[in-house]
Amino acid sequence: TEMFTFDPGFTSTASCESKITFIDGDAGVLLYRGYPIDQLAEHGDFLETCYLLLYGELPSAAEKANFDYRITRHTMVHEQMARFFQGFRRDAHPMAVMVASVGALSAFYHDSTNIADPVQRMVASTRMIAKIPTLAAMAYKYSIGQPFVYPKNDLDYTSNFLRMCFAVPCEEYKVNPVLSRALDRIFILHADHEQNASTSTVRLSGSSGANPFACIAAGIASLWGPAHGGANEAVLKMLAEIGTPERIPQFIARAKDKNDPFRLMGFGHRVYKNYDPRAKIMQRTTREVLNELGVKDDLLDVALELERIALSDEYFIEKKLYPNIDFYSGITLKAMNFPVAMFTVLFAVARTVGWIAQWKEMIEDSGSKIGRPRQLYTGEKRRDYVPMSKR
Ligand code: CMC
Repeated sequence: TEMFTFDPGFTSTASCESKITFIDGDAGVLLYRGYPIDQLAEHGDFLETCYLLLYGELPSAAEKANFDYRITRHTMVHEQMARFFQGFRRDAHPMAVMVASVGALSAFYHDSTNIADPVQRMVASTRMIAKIPTLAAMAYKYSIGQPFVYPKNDLDYTSNFLRMCFAVPCEEYKVNPVLSRALDRIFILHADHEQNASTSTVRLSGSSGANPFACIAAGIASLWGPAHGGANEAVLKMLAEIGTPERIPQFIARAKDKNDPFRLMGFGHRVYKNYDPRAKIMQRTTREVLNELGVKDDLLDVALELERIALSDEYFIEKKLYPNIDFYSGITLKAMNFPVAMFTVLFAVARTVGWIAQWKEMIEDSGSKIGRPRQLYTGEKRRDYVPMSKR
């Protein structure tokens, strides 16, 4: 009999070699192509990060201008896509619409799906990164019954996205640069995170040579779950349920109770056993956005106090449970006026570049194979068919 390593949840199995993202979970370090996440978030912009993740180096000024131009030229989706949207119930969850519409791109772009051709790979990658904000904004507009807003390509990537989401006909819309910069930074923080569930899904589906747009749709499906991209939504629900700082101790007690399934949402991480470096930047960004908008959100007070209490509690210290990125992102996105159902969609917009970069790396790695995990069979032994009359 064959012997396999049994590793449910892949907690100790490396599924690939990768040069893209490095995480040291014990030290709380996250590097994209060697560059610390806080430096990129502080000094760079999202498209620069996209370039870095895709090609391995920071772009020169000319390379950056060329890349921005290339992305900008591909932001439109075909008008038929607008009609494709009309087929959805108007109360459909925007993530359901994203899975379907990104999947549908596979039917639109046959001229960029020969993945053996590096030029076609490049065009498919460009299209995916350029069109994902357009589709995300369309999913949002459709869900609130407003007409689609077309991309305006003299704006930068994130400002363009904000405008497609929040501009309405017959009214002037000016992008707030503070909000645009904050959202751009949120995109940088979410751009890649090595072999998480959705990225592994993209790699696994792509390992068969499948259509890249369809593979990204698979990644979006995986991201949708509450244990992954849906966590910031869960954090907001939890903070609202706690309501006031005085009620925090009873929720901390519940989180520690073995017989209570309740967990502190936005706390803990499979890889980070120290402060998630993204959470620190996210916390700062939250304050910046609330200040800019003059929003006073009681949930932020609850969040800060909850963090303070949990970080000095023995249970959380011993189990190395720290706030993760999702702990603060929900409050920020809510202040920016995004409805909760859009939170995971924004995560998908940002993570698309990570999925594409990892997919590209896999296709270009001559040593990569179709993903085919084994199993430990625990079912019935061989037995003979029993005729219906004898059952
Ligand atoms: N609150 C209370 N206890 C917790 C929590 C929490 N948030 N997270 C883990 N624990 C306890 C857990 O009960 C277990 O205790 P014991 O060893 O006594 O059974 C121990 O810590 C280890 O937990 P685990 O579930 O085995 O660890 P994991 O690596 O499988 O899970 C996690 C990681 C993120 C799923 C988990 O920490 C969790 O459910 N957190 C809350 C949800 C959340 O914030 N998710 C966002 C993840 S980051 C963004 C993303 O990946 O998309």
